[in-house]
Amino acid sequence: MKRTAVFYGSSTGTTQMVAKQIAYILGADVYDVADKPVSKIQEYDNLILGTSTWGVGDLQDDWEAFLPDFKKNSLAGKAVAIFGLGNAEVYSDSFVDGMRMLFDTVKGSGATVVGFCPSDNYTFDHSEAVIDGEFVGLALDDENQSDLTNTRITAWVDQIKGKLN
Ligand SMILES: Cc1cc2nc3c(=O)[nH]c(=O)nc-3n(C[C@H](O)[C@H](O)[C@H](O)COP(=O)(O)O)c2cc1C
Repeated sequence: MKRTAVFYGSSTGTTQMVAKQIAYILGADVYDVADKPVSKIQEYDNLILGTSTWGVGDLQDDWEAFLPDFKKNSLAGKAVAIFGLGNAEVYSDSFVDGMRMLFDTVKGSGATVVGFCPSDNYTFDHSEAVIDGEFVGLALDDENQSDLTNTRITAWVDQIKGKLN
């Protein structure tokens, strides 16, 4: 496998924790987008992008600030996988919406997006991150379903492993 990096934005540390876990399993590097790691993007063949959702359906703040720089990069030939943290009970109408913003950014960039997940094992009313019954990446609710977080991460990493460059 060629080089893989996890880029994450996290306001209270949950997405950071998951980012580090995914990076550890894959032996990948890990960057907080708050540090504006724009020069790092082209060093990797595989990008794993993690965000939480804030406001009502908003992208995490550091991602919001980093996105203009991120968008200047060609992602042609790269494989990209997305994961998102949210709360399906309190924010049942905007569960992990932030993932969709990352997906929309990446999908026109020439990258191959991998790691879609069925949404039927979750309880929520609406998510912009669901397309044709599948989340555009790994959805995690570590506030209400923390008991499922590790299993979901492990299964997802197994799923994407064979699809990375
Ligand atoms: C003010 C506020 C707004 C939130 N809005 C949403 C939301 O719209 N959708 C969602 O799924 N989760 C929402 N959440 C839940 C966070 O995404 C969740 O707590 C997440 O684990 C935070 O991750 P982080 O610490 O990495 O930023 C919100 C939480 C707060 C406190």
